[in-house]
Amino acid sequence: MKAAITAVAHNVPEGVYDNVWFESKIDTTDEWIQTRTGIKERHFAFEGGLTDILLPAALKVLEQRGITALDIDVIIVATITGDRVFPSSAAILQRKLGADNAWGFDLAGACSGFLYALVTGAKLVESGAAKRVMVLGGDKMSSILNFEDRTTCVLFGDGGGAVILEASEDESYGIVDHILRMDGKGEAYLHQPSGGSLKPPTVESVMNREHYVYQEGQAVFKSAVKGMADVSFEIMERNSLKADDIAWLVPHQANLRIIDATASRMGLPHDKVMINIDRFGNTTAGTIPICISELHINKKVKKGDYIVLSSFGAGYTWGSILVRWSIDS
Ligand code: UT7
Repeated sequence: MKAAITAVAHNVPEGVYDNVWFESKIDTTDEWIQTRTGIKERHFAFEGGLTDILLPAALKVLEQRGITALDIDVIIVATITGDRVFPSSAAILQRKLGADNAWGFDLAGACSGFLYALVTGAKLVESGAAKRVMVLGGDKMSSILNFEDRTTCVLFGDGGGAVILEASEDESYGIVDHILRMDGKGEAYLHQPSGGSLKPPTVESVMNREHYVYQEGQAVFKSAVKGMADVSFEIMERNSLKADDIAWLVPHQANLRIIDATASRMGLPHDKVMINIDRFGNTTAGTIPICISELHINKKVKKGDYIVLSSFGAGYTWGSILVRWSIDS
């Protein structure tokens, strides 16, 4: 049995902040941000928590599938910016949705969180342990951004999306294959210094701005270019797919240059690469569900299409999933 995505939706907060907005706050330019990253604007919600962003996506996905929250068996939320450290945002969403029959948990895979969660949810469906799993990926990055650090604050945005996973009616559709990787040596280059059990919050940690994203951009960039391209190429090769067989590469939206390197390694032309980094920036676990939701809404993906989802992020974590699209457009 194969698990398949049977509905997909996304949501971003209303507030849009373009690059010029940052010019008055920090030493940066629209030109630098666009040429180095591909980002033009991003959405931020300065009020509310992650579940306020994800709830509309969860409601939309239920409506699209024509089911109620009571039909969901498991809720998995991929995020590093949940409403609270505990309880999980999955539990908070379960209450907000009234999904009384569901258990669930949060999964901290950073930028690869949605891919990790999708594979986990698919295995629950394939094993028969769950009939319907709601997998969400999203982050409220504005809650952990240092708006005085030009090297990080311009890169990220808030947003996320949701999918429903169920057994595929036809074995040839669904989550076909996956490659998931991790290298804990990446912690040194991308992390949140304080706030966890290693360094709980103190007045000093707050004064020293240790609760924000710390990133050594160039080091992460080098690993990301290689990591994302390697797994994307490998998943093509081991499934005997040529560039012509693939309808879309759906890459994590961290930097247009990383995306281009991955597409080039796969031999894919630009018009087969899903890109929305210009409008949303890097929403961490939100990028891939937002991308597939936009492809679906705009009828750019049709039943039977092969799409490759790929990511690289903190951990390091990275991976690639081959999906044969199963929703009628
Ligand atoms: O999703 C999680 C995984 N994260 C990633 O995949 C991110 C990977 N890294 C990157 O995307 C890129 O490394 C960045 C976009 C973060 C930075 O681009 P870069 O081309 O690697 O720039 P850089 O860090 O080498 O910095 C070049 C210059 C520096 O100035 P100096 O030292 O040459 O004088 C920076 O201080 O650009 C400066 N700079 C900026 N200038 C204007 C850094 N940030 C900014 C800024 N505006 N916002």
